[in-house]
Amino acid sequence: MADLDSVLGCLDLNLDRSVERLKDLLRIPSISTDPAYAADCRRCADWLAGDLDAIGFKARVADSAGHPMVIAHHDGAGPNAPHVLFYGHYDVQPVDPVELWDTDPFEPTVRQMPDGTSRITGRGSADDKGQLMTFVEACRAYIAETGSLPCRVTIFLEGEEESGSPSLLPFMDANKAELSADIALVCDTNMWDRETPAISTGLRGLVGEEVTIRCADKDLHSGYFGGAATNPIHVLSRILADLHDADGRVTLPGFYDGVPELPEEVREIWKGLNFDEAAFLGQAGLTTSSGEKGRSVLEQTWSRPTAEVNGISGGYTGKGFKTVIAAEASAKVSFRLVFDQDPAKIRESFRRFVSERLPTDAKVEFHEHGGSPAIQLPFDSPALTAAREALSDEWPKAAVMIGMGGSIPVVGEFKRRLGMGSLLIGFGLGDDRIHSPNEKYEMTSFAKGQRSWARVLDALGRKGV
Ligand code: BES
Repeated sequence: MADLDSVLGCLDLNLDRSVERLKDLLRIPSISTDPAYAADCRRCADWLAGDLDAIGFKARVADSAGHPMVIAHHDGAGPNAPHVLFYGHYDVQPVDPVELWDTDPFEPTVRQMPDGTSRITGRGSADDKGQLMTFVEACRAYIAETGSLPCRVTIFLEGEEESGSPSLLPFMDANKAELSADIALVCDTNMWDRETPAISTGLRGLVGEEVTIRCADKDLHSGYFGGAATNPIHVLSRILADLHDADGRVTLPGFYDGVPELPEEVREIWKGLNFDEAAFLGQAGLTTSSGEKGRSVLEQTWSRPTAEVNGISGGYTGKGFKTVIAAEASAKVSFRLVFDQDPAKIRESFRRFVSERLPTDAKVEFHEHGGSPAIQLPFDSPALTAAREALSDEWPKAAVMIGMGGSIPVVGEFKRRLGMGSLLIGFGLGDDRIHSPNEKYEMTSFAKGQRSWARVLDALGRKGV
């Protein structure tokens, strides 16, 4: 306990410095999906490996087919101590529309708010640089105060999470031994609310598809050809509109195969959370859920699958006006999956659904953007119980177990490829605006997140995993 107390004291004392380090990291525009930022992704990996080396890890930047990975090891309390693998991602989402940011997305600022809270703004502040640095800072303080760590620790940071982790699987297969541990710790999820820490026991899966429909062999004058020429924007939008019925259910054949009703005990746990649907929608400027009829918002976002159009393009979208029938139109469509839905089957069903609806002269092309099944983790593992207690010691309210509507594809692969369970602990808040303009991370998340990891590492070291 004396050790833990001094580590917590060290974290408090050095908070300002940890904020400066986070700012340095946030200044690197590591946007993985845009090849223009490839050098920045590498710079970000170098920065992290350098920092981990400096605090006593053996760190390396490892090349992959895409952006590099960072792997770092610390022997901690020796070969008999529990071995944890910490996973995070250093890549970030694009910043568009950049004009909606109040500050430069890559010039982080700490802002005091009228209610007395403070926050750090910038792309990646919450997703996931601020979160991953909570763990790194906990390790830094532990090593500084005690000379070691209570667990053997491997840190694994990837740079392609926000673009579907295309290089991850071959990399994991090629580095199995180096990445294997007793359990994976992932810091890329949310708290329940500002006072209540959470362990996520479910994540939705994801299928990403880009669909392009081509009709005429060139853009056409919409008066000369209009009325006769097939318009790919019309074809595409009709097909996309057909994806949902009037009750908000997805119409793809077989879509709900492997989607059971929520088990009663889980329904009870969720009921106990007293979720405020109006407040949840209100933080996005909305008033009414438009999802599947007859389902609560928690169900709609945690345990029901979705089909969403994430982007659509075609024709003339510049300033002014142009009377044109475009030659092609395309859309990016994603499906969030739950329980046992099979990503390959969903993709196939979508492709068939589109192909069957094409009129004469319309041709389609599909482009795959990743796929991962949903994750369900046990509610009662020893590691989860130990972590729950540790988190409850740090925050005003006891830790709760929640679902999570987002996806972290690596978690399933840890189980499948490395036989390793995961513990999903994160300090993000629902209003952090991840993937949106003005992303921020609360200073309490950053400060108490660091302290939380110190406590969790201490608990896992003492109690095992
Ligand atoms: N941190 C998120 C997952 C998340 C979302 C946690 C919402 C808590 C609340 C993660 O980095 C993420 O955004 N994942 C992507 C994965 C995809 C691009 C393969 C997602 O869910 O869209």
